[in-house]
Amino acid sequence: MASPFLPSSQPPKGVPSHVAIVMDGNGRWAQKRWLPRVAGHKRGVDALQKTVQCCLDRRVSALTVFAFSSENWNRPTEEVTGLMELLVMALSREVPNLKKHGVRLYFPGNRSQLSARVVQGLEAAEADTAGNNRLALNVCFNYGGRWDVVQAARRLAQTGREITEQSLSEATALSHVGDPDLLIRTGGELRISNFLLWQSAYTELYFTDCLWPDFDAAELDKALTDFSGRQRRFGQTAEQSAAGEPLDAAEQRHA
Ligand code: IPE
Ligand code: IPE
Ligand code: MG
Repeated sequence: MASPFLPSSQPPKGVPSHVAIVMDGNGRWAQKRWLPRVAGHKRGVDALQKTVQCCLDRRVSALTVFAFSSENWNRPTEEVTGLMELLVMALSREVPNLKKHGVRLYFPGNRSQLSARVVQGLEAAEADTAGNNRLALNVCFNYGGRWDVVQAARRLAQTGREITEQSLSEATALSHVGDPDLLIRTGGELRISNFLLWQSAYTELYFTDCLWPDFDAAELDKALTDFSGRQRRFGQTAEQSAAGEPLDAAEQRHA
């Protein structure tokens, strides 16, 4: 379990503190251009790099992205290998820059199925950026929401700790940040695809047809503007919520 992320500043009012993104549509972006799918994934890394900068500029404290799901092993071997290679390459290219900009990297996911070389890359990047506190960048790699709940429950069983909402939250792979306020999915599909099942109980959802390699500052701002107009009620009535009545302890924890 990673140590808690304590951001250096809070976002302005109406800006989500924690944004999560299902970066979908790389394959279709490439296919539309008669390029191999992996070319779409490469452009996806560029889109991520720009999105990180936008989140820093807008003072978002945590960005959690879905880079490789537990189910993505079902893809052709050459695509899976290409994605692993791209991760290693992107780390060597981007970490110095991320470090300079105050970004702390985390890689929530099941590492036991990854090669030693990939694990080494993830561990080195986490260690290298551990002193940063402007933005937590969680790159979920070989992550699945179901895997996360199971590994958290196993961890609690091993320690004998009582299972409560609080203790289970603390045992998940994203315990170092709060639950996401806004979850964006690009690529037009209207599903969660086993992303943050536990953590997104009260997350605002935003879907766009924009393919991930085309995602830019304007697209992010559309999602942020949409979010700023939402009323988050956490089970209260609209009137209670507008009056700012306190939530009970459990809801407050997820707010
Ligand atoms: C998302 O893009 C990236 C990964 C799942 C690794 P896709 O590769 O799923 O793109 P589409 O959905 O086929 O267009
Ligand atoms: C979700 O996209 C996973 C990532 C973006 C890493 P998929 O493309 O794998 O999702 P499905 O298969 O269309 O649901
Ligand atoms: Mg897809």
